[in-house]
Amino acid sequence: MSKKGFIFDLDGVIVDTAKYHFLAWKALAKSIGIDFSVEQNEQLKGVSRVRSLEKILAWGNKTISNEQFTTLMQKKNDEYLSYISQMGESEVLPDVPRIINSIIKSKQGIALGSASKNARQILKKVSLLGVFDAIVDGNDVTKAKPDPEVFLKGAEALDIKPEHCIVFEDSVAGIQAANVANMISIGIGDKDVLHEADYIYKDFTELSPEFLETLIKR
Ligand code: BG6
Ligand code: MG
Repeated sequence: MSKKGFIFDLDGVIVDTAKYHFLAWKALAKSIGIDFSVEQNEQLKGVSRVRSLEKILAWGNKTISNEQFTTLMQKKNDEYLSYISQMGESEVLPDVPRIINSIIKSKQGIALGSASKNARQILKKVSLLGVFDAIVDGNDVTKAKPDPEVFLKGAEALDIKPEHCIVFEDSVAGIQAANVANMISIGIGDKDVLHEADYIYKDFTELSPEFLETLIKR
């Protein structure tokens, strides 16, 4: 039985920061006269900061200068970081510690695969920075999800073949990235949104020890 690599997305999987991204983008968009829906927000999940702003501008049919683009990205991140600064361990999503502890106890690989450039800061806030064998985040990749780069780099850092890796993701882009990487994709969230995933759970409380064992032994 070969060792498996478990790769966790961060925002919306380990912590509920997806709601902070939403609030910060919503306020930013409003400041330039653009509104977008909860459904459209699904398209922002998992994708890079640059790509998110490009999408919002396209929704509002707006073109801006490079300088304005940089300013708006900064503004969004400042607002986002003001939410992050308030975070604590209680914001780790239900049963995430249980799953992480089982993976570590059974001596499998564990990595973070996030698009966020704020990943380490957030992990530190919730005291989870030390649990990963490898961390690949928005500072390490050039191509955003749905490109598989972030997960392939995670597998490489763990020294585990992609086909022996399992990805936990809350975004459509992330599920697509895991599928292209030839990894097992596990959607955490709404089954109608994440239907491209190999398995879907509402949250980690639904993920049984038996299922985890099956993933390790497969
Ligand atoms: C992803 C989020 O994890 O990170 C996206 O789902 C976000 O919403 C992306 O845009 C980049 O994050 P950050 O923190 O670098 O702006
Ligand atoms: Mg996410």
